[in-house]
Amino acid sequence: MNDKLGNWKRTHRCGDLTAHQIGHDVCVMGWVQRRRDHGGLIFIDLRDREGIVQLALDPDRDLASHQKAEQVRNEFVVAARGKVSPRPEGTVNPKMKTGEVEIEVTELAILNRSETPPFMLDEYTEVAENIRLKYRYLDLRRPALQGNLMMRHLVAKTVRNYLDSQGFIEVETPVLTKSTPEGARDYLVPSRVNTGNFYALPQSPQLFKQLLMVSGFDRYFQIVKCFRDEDLRADRQPEFTQIDCELSFVDRNDVMDVMEGLIAKIFHEALGVDVSLPMARLSYAEALDRFGVDNPDLRFGLELVDITSRVAASQFKVFADVASGGGLVKALNAKGCSSFSRKELDDLTDFVKIYGAKGLAWVKVTENGWQSPIAKFFNEAELAELNQVLDAEVGDLLMFMADTPAVANEALGRLRGHLGHKLGLTRKDDYKFVWVTDFPLLEWDGEARRHVAVHHPFTAPLEEDIPLLDSDPGKARAQAYDLVLNGSEIGGGSIRIHDQAVQSRMFELLGIGQDEAQEKFGFLLDALNFGAPPHGGIAFGLDRIMMILTGADSIRDVIAFPKTQKATCLLSDAPNEVADKQLQELGIRLRAQQK
Ligand code: AMO
Ligand code: AMP
Repeated sequence: MNDKLGNWKRTHRCGDLTAHQIGHDVCVMGWVQRRRDHGGLIFIDLRDREGIVQLALDPDRDLASHQKAEQVRNEFVVAARGKVSPRPEGTVNPKMKTGEVEIEVTELAILNRSETPPFMLDEYTEVAENIRLKYRYLDLRRPALQGNLMMRHLVAKTVRNYLDSQGFIEVETPVLTKSTPEGARDYLVPSRVNTGNFYALPQSPQLFKQLLMVSGFDRYFQIVKCFRDEDLRADRQPEFTQIDCELSFVDRNDVMDVMEGLIAKIFHEALGVDVSLPMARLSYAEALDRFGVDNPDLRFGLELVDITSRVAASQFKVFADVASGGGLVKALNAKGCSSFSRKELDDLTDFVKIYGAKGLAWVKVTENGWQSPIAKFFNEAELAELNQVLDAEVGDLLMFMADTPAVANEALGRLRGHLGHKLGLTRKDDYKFVWVTDFPLLEWDGEARRHVAVHHPFTAPLEEDIPLLDSDPGKARAQAYDLVLNGSEIGGGSIRIHDQAVQSRMFELLGIGQDEAQEKFGFLLDALNFGAPPHGGIAFGLDRIMMILTGADSIRDVIAFPKTQKATCLLSDAPNEVADKQLQELGIRLRAQQK
């Protein structure tokens, strides 16, 4: 039998007891982290969300409590009364918040027992993630995960306070809705009442937040779940949380200014880090040119150098052919890396092949000039020129890539990121923000043989590029912006089209006919005809921001009940099969069952 809570009243949380409470009579409740028997004395480390405090049980002080303590096992729930006392000389633990004190227990109650947990709940035990996810409620007892979720709470609170102070109003938008245009696959929900019809879960509140601008809310925000059925990666979840914002009567500088303030506030509150404002800005074109990717990690240099024109006439056929065929030849200088082994160079070559590269040419810069399989193809003048533009010095490792612009940029850009990690240039507590702006409005989808919107079809083109919509649409740039932090896209948004004529032209370019546009987004298009103010907005990925704030390697470590890479929940076993009756009511017959 367990003891009753009865008239036990908790006075403090375990982790809150310090030298300030010495001499006070307290009552704490929590989980047993560990019990140690020292001859007559028993010590229990008692844990709650604020930390761990040591209970000392002396049979001479209270025999009954001591006897109960003998039964206590890990993860039992206990309550203890006693006096906060300084720990004896030599037993102070400076690493613990409560390390100067212990509770001399006068009364102990066992409030509940626990089976032996499937894994140790200390910070040092590495446990397979599938086991952690299955017993998530136990995993969540671990201080690291509790810390992550408590910081998440602090961030959400900070977001609400800051946006409220800037005149934003939090409005909820529907979860059972229609497909939204973010480009991933929808999660569908069948309707019983309207058999054969489906809702889509929102990929974002995009359309509704624009409607709220038409309605005159002026500034909207929402901390909101979004759902995307897409291939998962380390920083993606099928359901994730956005800090979603929309503002009226603004241009993109206004949006970026307010949002920089939000991010600075979050970093100040959560980490005590003061972000220097204004944040850096890079055009998409410059980001690609210098870093190969549109989400550059600015914690380190290793910038790419375009050498296409300089190798067009070289004897190295691979480079010359690519240069004359409209491709790109780019290089980067890994300073001081000429000591890389053959194996390391082969690994780097394998790495770039993941991104479709055909090869990676390398050069070790030595006292005797270039040591490289490709050195023989270059004459003195070419060598001198390449050394100069690449700032090559003895000890450096130069790497070259020749390919289509898309592959050369992406593969070398990813290689740059990979080298940054490998060389230890990516300190987790170094926060480098950059806005990437002027994205292309459209990209060509070779398979569908038409343009698709890079951001979404409601994103406005740059004013000066509107004529390009007729002459050369692929060249038009968008009033879109992404916020990138340490190589991670933490947010993205745009100024929207509020002019019906431009919106129609946009749909035409996207090959979306009037009927289709009306069927898909008719409610928004109609609304734009009723006095839509100029407006724009942004959404931040809260989970991604939390990953960076907490230093978590996995997005799952900042979400209470996350899904696996295969979009399953190991705790609840979702998704699962449903009863035939349920399907019948929904008018659904599974294809697999028909066989
Ligand atoms: P976007 O699609 O860029 O824009 O999403 C905004 C931000 O949400 C985060 N994010 C994700 N985080 C975790 N898992 C995912 N699967 C995932 N997908 C996106 C990213 C991203 O920057 N409606 C527009 C915003 C706007 O235009 O205002 C939108 O949803 O950090
Ligand atoms: P090869 O002449 O094919 O033996 O290639 C010589 C070197 O150039 C090897 O190190 C290849 O990895 C490299 N290489 C081949 N194709 C490319 C390319 N498209 N871009 C950069 N390096 C390449």
